[in-house]
Amino acid sequence: MKLSYKLALVLSLAASLSVLLSSMVFLGIEYSLLKNSEIKTESAMKTGVAGIIREAQLANDPLILVDYLRLLGKEHKEIGRCRVWMNGKWRDVKGIGANLKKDNALILKVFPASKTAGELASLKAQIWLSRSAIENKISAMRRSLFRQMEETSGVFIFLGIIFALPIGRGLSRRIQIIENAVAKIGEGKAGMRLEKLGRDEIGRLSEGVNKMAERLDEIDRIKKDFVASVTHELRSPLGAIESHVSHILSGKTVGEEDRKSLSLILNNVNRLSHFVSNLLQMAKIERGKLDFMPKIAALSPIVEDGALFFASAAQKAGMKLDYKVDPQIPPLRLDPDLITHVLANFVSNALKFTRPGGTIFVSLERVGNWAECSVKDTGIGLEEKDVKRIFAPFERIRNPLKATGVGLGLAISKSIIEMHKGEIGVESKPGVGSRFYFRLPLK
Ligand SMILES: Nc1ncnc2c1ncn2[C@@H]1O[C@H](COP(=O)(O)OP(=O)(O)OP(=O)(O)O)[C@@H](O)[C@H]1O
Ligand SMILES: [Mg+2]
Repeated sequence: MKLSYKLALVLSLAASLSVLLSSMVFLGIEYSLLKNSEIKTESAMKTGVAGIIREAQLANDPLILVDYLRLLGKEHKEIGRCRVWMNGKWRDVKGIGANLKKDNALILKVFPASKTAGELASLKAQIWLSRSAIENKISAMRRSLFRQMEETSGVFIFLGIIFALPIGRGLSRRIQIIENAVAKIGEGKAGMRLEKLGRDEIGRLSEGVNKMAERLDEIDRIKKDFVASVTHELRSPLGAIESHVSHILSGKTVGEEDRKSLSLILNNVNRLSHFVSNLLQMAKIERGKLDFMPKIAALSPIVEDGALFFASAAQKAGMKLDYKVDPQIPPLRLDPDLITHVLANFVSNALKFTRPGGTIFVSLERVGNWAECSVKDTGIGLEEKDVKRIFAPFERIRNPLKATGVGLGLAISKSIIEMHKGEIGVESKPGVGSRFYFRLPLK
């Protein structure tokens, strides 16, 4: 469940719970007020009747009391019966409590006549209040209170959800921003920075993420500078060793044993300088310092020369290397040295990962609005899951041919092709072979 929904649910539940609790308290208070008001009504009734008795005595008219009681009976449905003591006997006031059950639960209220009255000193009134009618009245009021509580709770829950959803979204949106940023840092994009996300804990968390990214960025920069300077420093002595050993080997005075040792040294120095120059090139790409000098140039001769350059190496390795170039491809905006580098890596890889007897085919053709150069081999091929990895730096797949390398060639090629606004990719099947390609835009 999304965090925003969880938060909205929790907030609306909390709102409903507090509404429910406060309604219950409110209901309790209302209920006791209701009871009190019932008691007050009774005592007001008593005082009222007592007052009217006094008035009736003063006016010497018992009908005033009878009329008053009749009115009272109409007004208060809980009055089940009224009778008046006059002229020495009890008389029922007619028309009161006609529909009321005359059960045993009637409460008798007696209003004694005033002893101080004159002629009608013996005027009295009795009122029966129906307990069930009182209870019915109270429970009807209670029901209406419950209904009101239900309605207000419903409204509050609805409002709670309406208000909680944007609050939840707001919170989860900020957490999502941080999550995306952390994912980007995890992908190695430590250059990203988060916008200010408030002053609360989430805001402070975003500041912490920014500080972490800054530090990582700095460490990354130090690492790149270090690699760049070390590889740069290594290049000159390696070049010197390479040229001196080559020079000694070209001499006639070197014995057979020494020649073998020197060739071994030369091979290793070549491997080392290939590694160092790849490392240096990657460091330059990462620091945005790779010399990219595009010009309008024909791609066909670059592809042809590249294929021819590896022909003898393919022959030595017992492979057939062919090429086919479309001469109609118009000149493009490209950096010939860098494109040669990409092609060289494709073909050298094809040589490394194909068994003797296999074939390598280099081609240049037009595909839609692209000029596509591809190197197809009948080598060991790649699994689907590995295809996604090999364009990242230092990614190599365990291979049965024990081919050497550091895993930088394709990463460098990818950056070079991206500089040209082109595309790079591979189609491969394990055990069948691979077709690595790059495309450059024709316009
Ligand atoms: N033609 C191919 N057939 C099968 N696997 C290949 C092929 N080309 C590349 N790969 C796989 O991709 C990996 C990366 O290639 P990449 O050119 O980047 O590095 P490398 O050749 O191992 O070393 P480097 O090019 O830095 O000397 C290789 O190690 C290999 O596992
Ligand atoms: Mg390579």
